[in-house]
Amino acid sequence: MRHSTLFGHLALTCGLLASPVFAQGKLTLYCSSDEAWCQQAKTEFEKKTGVAVDMTRKSSGETYAQIKAEATNPKGDIWWGGTGDPHLQAAEEGLTQAYVSQARDQLFDWANRQAAASKDRTVGIYSGALGYGYNEELLKKQGLSAPSCWKDLIKPEFKGKVQVANPNSSGTSYTMLATLVQMMGEKEAFDYLRALHKNINQYTKSGSAPIKAAGAGETVIGIVFVHDAVAVAEAGFPIKSVVPCEGTGYEIGSMSIVKGARNIDNARKFYEFALSADFQSKAKDVKSFQVPSNKASSISAKAPDLAKIKLIDYDFVKYGSSAERRRLLKKWDEEIGALPN
Ligand code: F6P
Repeated sequence: MRHSTLFGHLALTCGLLASPVFAQGKLTLYCSSDEAWCQQAKTEFEKKTGVAVDMTRKSSGETYAQIKAEATNPKGDIWWGGTGDPHLQAAEEGLTQAYVSQARDQLFDWANRQAAASKDRTVGIYSGALGYGYNEELLKKQGLSAPSCWKDLIKPEFKGKVQVANPNSSGTSYTMLATLVQMMGEKEAFDYLRALHKNINQYTKSGSAPIKAAGAGETVIGIVFVHDAVAVAEAGFPIKSVVPCEGTGYEIGSMSIVKGARNIDNARKFYEFALSADFQSKAKDVKSFQVPSNKASSISAKAPDLAKIKLIDYDFVKYGSSAERRRLLKKWDEEIGALPN
């Protein structure tokens, strides 16, 4: 009996030692895209390279804050996904390090512009437009009119029926804040946010949570990236996605290597992997319908076509700058977040 236990342990130990996972070391991945896509990235990278990946999913603003808090003793190696603004802020604050990918020439200009703006400390991996989605069944049941513009979301009939994330934790919600400021001017944007606040039932931590809640019937409307609304509809929920009639902003989902990364070689390996058309083409298998940054990646027919959407000329340099992002978030906390329900 004791013999067989010992043998079992030995076999297990030898098996683990021989496993390519242990042979190739590890990688600590901070992931800010959708949970299922984060899981896919971990699994596919482990399969391809034998590197053991320790992955955590947190929202864009949360991950930025974590990397900043860990700056004197970095624990993460690479930050993959999440909106570009906090990646740019991290770059400006010296929390991430420069790396030029071999795939640079294969990327769309918008992806390389992120790199240029950050002295190569970040790069675009996907893009997607901001919008919202609503639960068609709930809307009908409650006798509400279908919204199609930003201005519709502040109608009194939607009191307590709209959900959006908190812009401090969520890159989606910060994209909304910066988009409205760019579209309306700052004073009007904050007036709009005050009016919208009356209709908000909850500020969530994660950007896509509001549309998942709409799918589950817990809110009528969720303000999210349009691709996230499409994903929930594709999962079988009665969600209709909306591109606001006035036009809208967009994200450049980004990737950065943490300064002081302990597993730098594996971080660079992951960087190349994440920019490859081969991996980016698999996003649709987990219902991630963003536009990939590698021009050779295949894209799902369900992905919102950005060429057909009235997009603003989003100023990533300004709204991804440390001073502006901090200033706007502070103002949101003081003037919107602090308002009574
Ligand atoms: O769910 C995917 C996604 O919307 C990405 O397109 C985006 O970069 C990220 O989530 C933003 O998440 P959050 O708003 O939680 O930071």
